[in-house]
Amino acid sequence: MLSSKGSARKHLIALVGFGTVAKGLCQILLEKRDILKRDYQFEFEIVAVSTRSRGTMFHPAGLSLSYLNYLALNNEPFVENTKEWDAEDMIRNSNATVVIELAHTDFVNAEPALTHCRTAFETGKHIISGNKGPAAVAYSEMKALARKRGCAFLNEATVLSGTPVFSFFNHSLRGNQVNGLRGILNGATNFILSKMETGSSFDQALLQAQKLGYLEADSSADIDGYDALAKLAILANDLFDLAVDLSDIRREGIATITQVHIEAARREGKRWKLVATLSIDGAEIIAQVKPEKLSLSDPLAQVNGTLNAITFSTDLLGDVTITGPGAGGRETGYAVLSDLLTLNTGDFS
Ligand code: HSE
Repeated sequence: MLSSKGSARKHLIALVGFGTVAKGLCQILLEKRDILKRDYQFEFEIVAVSTRSRGTMFHPAGLSLSYLNYLALNNEPFVENTKEWDAEDMIRNSNATVVIELAHTDFVNAEPALTHCRTAFETGKHIISGNKGPAAVAYSEMKALARKRGCAFLNEATVLSGTPVFSFFNHSLRGNQVNGLRGILNGATNFILSKMETGSSFDQALLQAQKLGYLEADSSADIDGYDALAKLAILANDLFDLAVDLSDIRREGIATITQVHIEAARREGKRWKLVATLSIDGAEIIAQVKPEKLSLSDPLAQVNGTLNAITFSTDLLGDVTITGPGAGGRETGYAVLSDLLTLNTGDFS
C-alpha cells in the first residue's frame, strides 16, 4: 500500500479458505515475489490462513510461502504456528491488513463469508473476495461498510476468474456509455453444452464436469443458473450501480436441454448457450439468465468449454467482447493478485 507520501508498506494477508484458488495464488506469489516488488513496489507476507478442516495458522511476521505451497500441494494438516481460531477470530485478532475470502460460495445467504467481510471492515481490514456470495447478496452494504472504514472491497475474481472484467470496464472502456452486456458467465454449463455438441448426453457431460472439478459444491448452482445469476448481479451492482437484487433476475438453467435440442439447433446453424443478459434502456432494466440458441456468427457462440465471455454494448465502439478462462485455481489466483495490485496503488474506491 502506498501512503500519502508514496512510501511502500507491506500488505499483511489473511486467507480464508485454502483450496484450489489459494493454491494457485500461493504459487503465483512465490514465483513472482521479486518481480512484484521490483516492478510494482508490492510487498507482502501471508500472516494467517484459516480453513474449516485443517484449522488456522498464524504468524504475525509472516508464514513461510514455500511451506504454504508445500501444504497446499500435499494437502497436509497444519502442524506449525497453529491457533485455536476460527476464520472470524483470525480476522478479528490477527495483524492482517487484507483478508482474502476464498471459502465456498453460499448462493442464498452468503454466509459465513458475509460475516467475515463485516468483521474485516469492522476491524479496518480490506477485503478481496473470490467468494461470489458477499457481492451478489449484499453489494451495497459491503461497499458502504468498506467506504466508511476507508477499506477496499474488490471482486475481480468473482466473474470470469482471471479474465479482467472489472478493470477492463473501469479503465479500458472509459468514456463509453455502456448500455448492457450479454455473457457466458458459467464455465461448467458451457463445458457441458460443448460436450453435448460432440455427442455426450447431459448426464455423461455432467459427470465429466464433476470429475474435472468445474462444478460448485452443489452442482445445482451451476446447472440451474444460480452461479451465473450471482455473477450477473455482481456486474449489475459493481459496474452499473444498479442495486439489483438476486430476486430481480429471471433465472432458467440448462437441465431441460437435451440432445434433441442440440441437434435441432445444429440443423438451424445455431448453438445453445447459457446466456446472462443485462440490458439498460433508460429506466427499463432487463436482467436474466437463460439458455439461448445463438447463431454461429454471434461471438458468444464461438466460446466453448470452460471459457467465458462478455459482450459489452457500447455507444462509441459498438459491441466489444472479451473472452478468457472462467474458472481454475491459477486463473482465479491471478484475479486475486490483480486486486492486490489495485490495493497497492491506493486507488480502490
Ligand atoms: N462453477 C463456476 C463455473 C466456477 O463453472 O463458472 C467459477 O466461478
